[in-house]
Amino acid sequence: MNMSMTADGKIATTNRVISSFSSKRDHNHLLSLRATADAVMCGARTVDLNKVNLGPGGPKYRKLRLKRGLVESNLRIIVSGSGTLDPNAHIFRNAAASDKGAVKNPSPIIILTSARAGKARIAKLRAVANEVKVFGKKRPDLRAALKWLHQKWNVRRLICEGGGELNDAMFRAGLVDELYLTLCPRIIGGSKAPTIADGLGFPKLAKAEQLKLKTLKQSKNELFLTYTRDR
Ligand SMILES: NC(=O)c1ccc[n+]([C@@H]2O[C@H](COP(=O)([O-])OP(=O)(O)OC[C@H]3O[C@@H](n4cnc5c(N)ncnc54)[C@H](OP(=O)(O)O)[C@@H]3O)[C@@H](O)[C@H]2O)c1
Repeated sequence: MNMSMTADGKIATTNRVISSFSSKRDHNHLLSLRATADAVMCGARTVDLNKVNLGPGGPKYRKLRLKRGLVESNLRIIVSGSGTLDPNAHIFRNAAASDKGAVKNPSPIIILTSARAGKARIAKLRAVANEVKVFGKKRPDLRAALKWLHQKWNVRRLICEGGGELNDAMFRAGLVDELYLTLCPRIIGGSKAPTIADGLGFPKLAKAEQLKLKTLKQSKNELFLTYTRDR
């Protein structure tokens, strides 16, 4: 998982519109991490609310991928349990091809959903994505979904890039091996502003995710932290 967070623990403003508050260096760090992964995954609101394409970035990163034996462009995965993901979102507008430095043939977009989405919404999403896969009745079983991604799409390393609700589900399912966290010198405030793990959370401290700090690097006023799971 890779996230940037303000000094007061927020990942966006209360209205969820502004989430770009980190440096160019942090953006390069995000692209460098993508260049190590088979797939990049986000929750529906991150994709709806932001101009994201989840792509590999410019030629430098694509070359790096090829050198490492990865395909030129990472798979793009979106989780939308009730299928409310906006089919007109930036990511579906062939935007990846027109963005500066993006690949001409962007990689497949896969949507993970549940039966709760209903036939009509699933049909709309099928019209814009390469594959829409239904897992379970209410919420996609993320463990089963990752297993399927491994088997069908050969995904060995996946980067989850938020938002808080999806991250929380990933932590609770015990699916986060590493957390890359950039701590940025800003205070956004707001009791309803999202954090790196929202959703339901862990009910008891004894059950909470326990992390171990692996690396810490300072670059000007930002801290780049890497945690692994401590169990
Ligand atoms: N600073 C950063 O590094 C960073 C990174 C990413 C995002 N953000 C910010 O975070 C905010 C979005 O976060 P968010 O928590 O509101 O939304 P989110 O996690 O991006 O998306 C939430 C939606 O994703 C689907 N979803 C998430 N977990 C699910 C699960 N376990 N099962 C099924 N569906 C699931 C649901 O879609 P349905 O409603 O369709 O069921 C849910 O409504 C935005 O403001 C974004 O800009 C910041």
